Amino acid sequence: MTQHPYNPGRLLFGGDYNPEQWSKDVWAKDIALMRRAAVNTVSLGIFSWALLEPREGEYDVEWLDGIIAMLHEAGIGFFLATPTASPPPWFTRAHPDAMPVRADGTTLTHGSRDTYAVSSPAYREASQRIARFLAERYGAHPGLRGWHVHNEYGTIDYGPHAADAFRRWLRSKYETLDELNAAWTTAFWSQSYGEWEDILPPRDTQYLHNPAHVVDFKRFNSDEMLAAFTEQKAAIVASGSTAPITTNFMLPTWNHLEQWSWSEAQDVVSIDHYLDDPGIDGDTHVAYCGDLTRSWAGGPWLLMEQNAIGIRVGDRTYVKGPDQTIRNSLGYIARGSQSSLFFQWRASAGGSELWHGALVPHAGESSRAFETVVELGSILESISEVVEPPTDGRPVEADVAILWDAEGWWATDTPHLPNDALSYSDEVRATHRSLWRAGISVDFVRAGDDLSRYRLMIIPSMFALSEADAAWATSYVRSGGQLVVQFFSGIADMNQRVITGGYPGMLRELLGVRTEEIRPLPDGESLELDKGFHSEMWSERVQLEGASSLVDYRAGALSGLPAITRNDVGMGAATYLSTRLTQLSRDRYYAQLCADLGIDPVVSDAAPLGVEAVRRRGAAADYLFLLHHGSDSVTVSGEGVDLVTGSNAAGLTLDPGDVAVIRESSRKWMLVKENSASA
Ligand code: GAL
Repeated sequence: MTQHPYNPGRLLFGGDYNPEQWSKDVWAKDIALMRRAAVNTVSLGIFSWALLEPREGEYDVEWLDGIIAMLHEAGIGFFLATPTASPPPWFTRAHPDAMPVRADGTTLTHGSRDTYAVSSPAYREASQRIARFLAERYGAHPGLRGWHVHNEYGTIDYGPHAADAFRRWLRSKYETLDELNAAWTTAFWSQSYGEWEDILPPRDTQYLHNPAHVVDFKRFNSDEMLAAFTEQKAAIVASGSTAPITTNFMLPTWNHLEQWSWSEAQDVVSIDHYLDDPGIDGDTHVAYCGDLTRSWAGGPWLLMEQNAIGIRVGDRTYVKGPDQTIRNSLGYIARGSQSSLFFQWRASAGGSELWHGALVPHAGESSRAFETVVELGSILESISEVVEPPTDGRPVEADVAILWDAEGWWATDTPHLPNDALSYSDEVRATHRSLWRAGISVDFVRAGDDLSRYRLMIIPSMFALSEADAAWATSYVRSGGQLVVQFFSGIADMNQRVITGGYPGMLRELLGVRTEEIRPLPDGESLELDKGFHSEMWSERVQLEGASSLVDYRAGALSGLPAITRNDVGMGAATYLSTRLTQLSRDRYYAQLCADLGIDPVVSDAAPLGVEAVRRRGAAADYLFLLHHGSDSVTVSGEGVDLVTGSNAAGLTLDPGDVAVIRESSRKWMLVKENSASA
């Protein structure tokens, strides 16, 4: 049961804490430093199974009791993890069959983390046992802020346990092999199944996999891991513990879970977010993470981990400076996070992640990094009133919705598309980025959601759609909605079976177009369109079947043919982008479309000055977050109080890197570049 809206009573600040890596004198020092930095929350025990249960059924909790008592005495709360992401060595020895098997058949061995086959009965039983034990012992502790079940579910197993469980899942989905064979188009390449036992996980094979098989395996894995989570949750609830239960999702690259169904199963949705860009696109991505997680949660949520100090990109770790640490933390909170939690409190001296940044770096507390932590702690205390959610539970209001669909991601990830450079995640992110650059708030929605509050809905390249999805989009448009559908959407059903007769079969009538030819472009080549737009990667030969062309291709084989079309349907309109607009063209396209539709930025002159403006709604007031990513000082005018400085918002100056959180007295704001203000 989701508790709505989630309100921990104060903004939670702190992070993963691994006292088991340190001696007791360091614990005492840690607690003193936490108090200095106003840290109020840590996450304990995430990978501590081997210490908590050193031999099967024998528990050692002295160290955990000890640190919990010290934290509690200092007024610091804790999330307690179930340590099931890291089974101990004795478990591996006792149950060698419970190790995960890779797609290539290699059985993994102990020595890292996440070495378990999620469908192994022994693993599932041991996981519930340790969850029950911890819940019975700590479930009523007054310092317990919540349960952190497992860590980042997402270990995929292709072994015999997975094969058995996959077959059970398929039997319950299809009931007969005839149904399965038809859905998977097994007539192709002699794949027809005559016995359930013949079906395997999509292990490495000679050439291309069957895409329907691959996507069903993804669906199965999400459901299987959800079942493992739900069992642990049930064990905790059975102990009588009433603390909220969550498990941490992961962005940007983890795509193993169907987040909408998982979100419904949690009391509060939490996420780990690791920046993958040290530049301004990292800030864009903070917003993306915040908007996605708030949407999955349907209200306030928890940022369970973010990078401290370092941003890992490829094979190196770049430094995340003080300004960015503060700006990013507030970026999540602006979008409904009730926390700013990090990985991790104290940098490990050894072990696999000894080079990962931390709130207390290897250099110790005499460091710029720790000074930043103290500053952030003090800012979070000053703005803590934002934690009180509005009664309708919606911390951010948006007029624009983007369809998010994990299954669409999985389908678009299958290989051998007309252009394999197409990435669902890149398309969603590029579209969100355009709206972020225009200063416009965005929600993500699930097919079937009530769209009545949205004036614009965007379907990013969503290869597979169901008939119900198409009917839902159509009824949105008929009742006055503005829909934009990006290329390669609605081409196929949910088993990746193309709707023949012309693309995009599922949406052809709604869009009033028929594509007969998909024409990918070579890397690096771009196409010129009318009105100064440019596109890349993808183009289509489109015929109008009721729609009109808004923008034509201007060059090449498609010159003079429609590139962007619009079909008026009922009281609304459905627009089709048959080509991939470059980021700059996409930015211009969405900024103009929003202007035409009267969808305003939160503060109209903020984005051009490099200031991100987000309004977080609260119980007694609304709060305008201003995060300055730009390079010129800016003067603010409007009515309210900046909680960060405690000063009146009128005349406030924001230097590059600065933040303000303004309790608004009115919604009229003006931002001006400083030298032009004084000119
Ligand atoms: C997270 C994980 C943490 C830590 C961190 C840094 O995904 O939850 O335990 O490993 O990454 O790499």
